[in-house]
Amino acid sequence: MNAQTIMICSGKGGTGKSTVSVLLGAQLGAWSRRVLLIELDSGLRSVDMIAGVYGKTVYDIEDVLCGRCDGSKAIVPSPLYPGLSVISAPYEGGEVRAAPLAGLILAMREYFDYILLDTAAGMGAPFTAANRLADRALVVLTPDPVALRDGRIVADALLQNGRPASAVRLVMNRVSRSSFGKDAAVFDLDECIDTVGLQLIAAIPESRTLQRAGAAGTALPQDCPAAIAGHALAGRILGERIPLTCF
Ligand SMILES: Nc1ncnc2c1ncn2[C@@H]1O[C@H](COP(=O)(O)OP(=O)(O)O)[C@@H](O)[C@H]1O
Ligand SMILES: [Mg+2]
Repeated sequence: MNAQTIMICSGKGGTGKSTVSVLLGAQLGAWSRRVLLIELDSGLRSVDMIAGVYGKTVYDIEDVLCGRCDGSKAIVPSPLYPGLSVISAPYEGGEVRAAPLAGLILAMREYFDYILLDTAAGMGAPFTAANRLADRALVVLTPDPVALRDGRIVADALLQNGRPASAVRLVMNRVSRSSFGKDAAVFDLDECIDTVGLQLIAAIPESRTLQRAGAAGTALPQDCPAAIAGHALAGRILGERIPLTCF
């Protein structure tokens, strides 16, 4: 087994990187894949809540990268989503450095099918380290002009240094009927794609169910629209031909 590494990034904060990372990890699990999700957003930890490992985490990614503990000790299996395991970000402090992160990925590669790197807003150390190490990238944006403009800058950075365009995809998150139209700030999904300059791999709906499950640390029902969209995203990552649906 030799895990593929996928980074999840955005530029603008709060677009749903962590929510989509857990959704993708859970749904790759539903496709019978083994997934390690590493949260790199120091100080804004949220994956532990969303994946249901809150209170079960002793060591975090900073402990691993500083050599305070072995990577395997920081891995916590999600009690909500079979196949998904998590290494949480620290509550505060720490700088993500590429060299020890590369060592961790190398050590974990044989045990997982996918390693997901949930980065932080902006293009600081977590983005830079993940960008050096990831095989593929997903840019998670919401349908608003600021997120899309920042997404373009991030997309350009991801496509520098020879990464092929096919390895970078756009995920539009929090999409609803009211996101688009003559009176909305963005006209349609095509405008999102044109502004960012990336091919769209998924549209995840605005979902109170998804938001509530993440905040409460409970499992997302498999039959809700967000789970179905996440399952399709995971399938497309696996190379399945699944048509894009919108809401
Ligand atoms: N598709 C969605 N529908 C409704 N709320 C969402 C959706 N995606 C994310 N959210 C909410 O948006 C907020 C920010 O999400 P989060 O995943 O923490 O973003 P980031 O990791 O990019 O900072 C959270 O309250 C989360 O529940
Ligand atoms: Mg986050």
